[in-house]
Amino acid sequence: MLLPFTLILALLASQASFASRPAKRSYSTHDYYVLEHHPTAGASLEECATALGVELVEQAGELKNHWLLRTEKMLPLGLSSREAIEIDHVLARFDSLQTQAARSSYFSLRSTDTRHARRVVSAVRYLSRQVPRQRTKRDDSFIHRAPPPIPAGDDNTSSRAVALRMGITDPLFGQQWHLVNDVSPQHMMNVTPVWEMGLTGEGVISALVDDGLDYRSDDLAANFDAAGSHDFNDHVDLPTPVLSDDHHGTRCAGQIAAVKNNVCGVGIAYNSKVAGIRILSGPITDIDEAASLNYGFQNTSIFSCSWGPPDDGRSMEGPSYLIKKAVVNGIQHGRQGKGSIFVFASGNGAASGDQCNFDGYTNSIYSVTVAAVDAKGLHPYYSEACAANMVVAYSSGSGSHIVTTDIGKNKCATTHGGTSAAAPNAVGVIALALQARPDLTWRDIQHICVRTAQLVNPEDPDWDTTAAGRPFSYKYGYGKIDAYHYVTAAKTWQNVKPQAWVDIPAIQIAGGTMDTFQNMTGGELIVTGGISSSASVTQAMLDDANFEKLEHVTVKVWISHGKRGDVEVQIVSPGGIQSVLAAPRKSDSADTGYPGWTFMTIKHWDENPVGQWTIHVSDQENQHNGSFLGWAMTLWGSTVDASKAKVYELPSDDSPLPPRPTTSLSSTIDIPTSTKDWPKPTEHLPGDHGEAEGEASKPAFPGQDDATSPSMTPTPDEGWFPGMSKWVSNQKWFFIALGAVLIFGISVGVFFVRRRSARKRRANYSSLAREDVAMSSISGSGQPNAGSGRAKELYDAFGEVSDDEDDDEDADEETGLRPRGLQVESPGGRLAYHSGFLDDDEPGSGISAQTYKDEPEYADHLLEGDRSHTPSGRSDGDSWEHASQTR
Ligand SMILES: *[C@@H]1O[C@H](CO)[C@@H](O)[C@H](O)[C@H]1NC(C)=O
Ligand SMILES: *[C@@H]1O[C@H](CO)[C@@H](O)[C@H](O)[C@H]1NC(C)=O
Ligand SMILES: *[C@@H]1O[C@H](CO)[C@@H](O)[C@H](O)[C@H]1NC(C)=O
Ligand SMILES: *[C@@H]1O[C@H](CO)[C@@H](O)[C@H](O)[C@H]1NC(C)=O
Repeated sequence: MLLPFTLILALLASQASFASRPAKRSYSTHDYYVLEHHPTAGASLEECATALGVELVEQAGELKNHWLLRTEKMLPLGLSSREAIEIDHVLARFDSLQTQAARSSYFSLRSTDTRHARRVVSAVRYLSRQVPRQRTKRDDSFIHRAPPPIPAGDDNTSSRAVALRMGITDPLFGQQWHLVNDVSPQHMMNVTPVWEMGLTGEGVISALVDDGLDYRSDDLAANFDAAGSHDFNDHVDLPTPVLSDDHHGTRCAGQIAAVKNNVCGVGIAYNSKVAGIRILSGPITDIDEAASLNYGFQNTSIFSCSWGPPDDGRSMEGPSYLIKKAVVNGIQHGRQGKGSIFVFASGNGAASGDQCNFDGYTNSIYSVTVAAVDAKGLHPYYSEACAANMVVAYSSGSGSHIVTTDIGKNKCATTHGGTSAAAPNAVGVIALALQARPDLTWRDIQHICVRTAQLVNPEDPDWDTTAAGRPFSYKYGYGKIDAYHYVTAAKTWQNVKPQAWVDIPAIQIAGGTMDTFQNMTGGELIVTGGISSSASVTQAMLDDANFEKLEHVTVKVWISHGKRGDVEVQIVSPGGIQSVLAAPRKSDSADTGYPGWTFMTIKHWDENPVGQWTIHVSDQENQHNGSFLGWAMTLWGSTVDASKAKVYELPSDDSPLPPRPTTSLSSTIDIPTSTKDWPKPTEHLPGDHGEAEGEASKPAFPGQDDATSPSMTPTPDEGWFPGMSKWVSNQKWFFIALGAVLIFGISVGVFFVRRRSARKRRANYSSLAREDVAMSSISGSGQPNAGSGRAKELYDAFGEVSDDEDDDEDADEETGLRPRGLQVESPGGRLAYHSGFLDDDEPGSGISAQTYKDEPEYADHLLEGDRSHTPSGRSDGDSWEHASQTR
């Protein structure tokens, strides 16, 4: 009875859990698992652990009811480690418990074994083995070359004058053109006016989730936050750079918080603090990555992330289920509920045709995605474009690099760059704003980005105008983040109301389906010219969802295709605004299609979403067959009534088409994948990233030409009716669709009435955005001006219903929130096993791995290789769902 005893100790220790450090992991001697426990569903946590033959380590990061478990690695004689992984004894035990639990309806309902199995099975919502894998840094620099000399200016805005006035004696300050640009003063982060307001980031902590942070550097030591730091690669407290190329995190940290002293240069928020969270210097498991993104998240405000899936123009990967959970946990509970701010570099793979919408971290609605512009304000050829790009910040290109701190006591870096240097520059600006306004929520931060970003290269054909009248470009997002404009707006910013969302249910096309193994069937063949499908959003849907103003739009697609890189996906809003979600990627020859991949666009921010949204899927190459099976859309924005806001709950399995009812009983096992090694980022940031001249005249997506645009005329019938016969066989879907059509018709009438009255009010409407962008400068994306004009009218009409947007200034994101869906979430106690109690250095000590007494009868089950865990369809009242992640 060791476990309950531990639990008691853990409960006693739980108050101290804030300060506790993660237990040391030992992935070489133990197998680790994450279990999500349903605290009120049946078996206790210890009972589950005993049944699975594992010991509890501690709470998994900051995820409530998620537990890290481990068992000693078992390498049976005569088996290679590869085969041993295939026979996972813990998952096999769970399998067998599930079988036993299901069997009960036919056999002995009264058997204690069965009751035990059912208790355990219903208490385990999710179980997955943790396999370390390598994450990829976004940057590196090989070139060691002296930076160009900076001529000294003589007016009071030159770097020399600023240094004198502000008492900056850092020897490289004059070379930090991103702070004060003596050559092209219009190209810099524009921080000096903010410093002169007395804002230098004091009291704000940013964490560099990276490859280490050299806290021994004289340029960082004074601003280092040890409490918020951890090394998840070597499982020690301090994020010491160890490997020869562990300089990335230190360089990024210097950009944010290099101390104002006699070493190198200064950071943008030079009195703020930086923590180092080391994850990139070796393989890491999902749960450790999840923990890293919530590490110290009450005190740490900003998580600076300059890494992600490889920028090779072939990968399409996103955060796994546990990592997504951590991110949602961060925005809901981090920073006392105001939300952690996740800043992600857009990626360095533009030269390989990569786009940030193929990266689930950068296209997350929870990230501020930052691409790069260079010292001449041009688009560096490495910087990735996509509809999820929010802003750009300065980085390497056209002959300049970023000058910052390096590893070593008094070492400086002069060749830093890539989008991974752009992201920390944005982090620095946000840190300045948070000093002035610590109450800003994660969405306020994004709103201010959208509203205050400054136009760069107005002649660039990539610019388009949104329905809200703002310029947007796939290359630059809403423009460059400018410290002065950002902080000035932040100072008087009125907090936005809590988040609301509208789910547009999945639309199946021609009977398209996908199972949990990602087998896709049916769908409509993608013909020359592409296929369109439309969905209507009505005012009634918005009202039902307590939805006021649009921010992000996510679009999930199911497409089978012989060569994924040939597929183009675009969506057109009711206002005629077009978002390119996927442009061709030459090197992407995957034949796996898009198995429920989610794209994101912020191009519709503040647009009226009522009306018909049309998606267009095409393939101009026509060398491979493909089918469009279905799509779903979610609109994200603000609530009308803040007091009725809901807490978003991440669906545990949202990929099958059609989506399964949430009550269905299915497996929670996440089948482990083999260890994955992602290449070093050096393979994707070109060596000449600092030298190569940028551009401002090319479309964001080279493979895309105007030929796609004419076919964008919404043709709703195409997508809906070919599959109608199959729809009718599913009457529920048919009537939902019929209802939607009727509601749409009514709402069109309502819309025109509203628009008429709105026109009268038009004189009162003024946008925060720059109105000076001529419509005529917008071309390239092929959207006719007529569309934008119409969009403006639509926005005005919408303005009528949103006049009172600022009424609820005291609305709290966290009040009146309640969970959505059927899953019962008990507030429960915060349990945490004291890390010291289970010292991983001594395998088998403390609470040793419990061996299950009866040899479970799972052998035959395993030999069949049956992993489907397909439920019997009985409703046992279990509310858990299948939770395997999308691959
Ligand atoms: C810089 O000089 C201009 C005019 O020469 C003056 O208006 C401005 O206030 C000065 N700025 C600072 C920060 O001293
Ligand atoms: C967070 O800050 C508070 C107040 O400064 C401090 O007491 C606490 O130890 C900090 N926690 C962490 C994990 O840094
Ligand atoms: C679905 O995929 C699984 C795993 O890839 C495969 O074994 C199975 O045969 C497929 N089923 C169908 C119906 O294609
Ligand atoms: C595409 O489908 C057609 C008709 O089903 C078939 O004849 C053709 O061989 C297929 N092409 C490829 C490249 O698979």
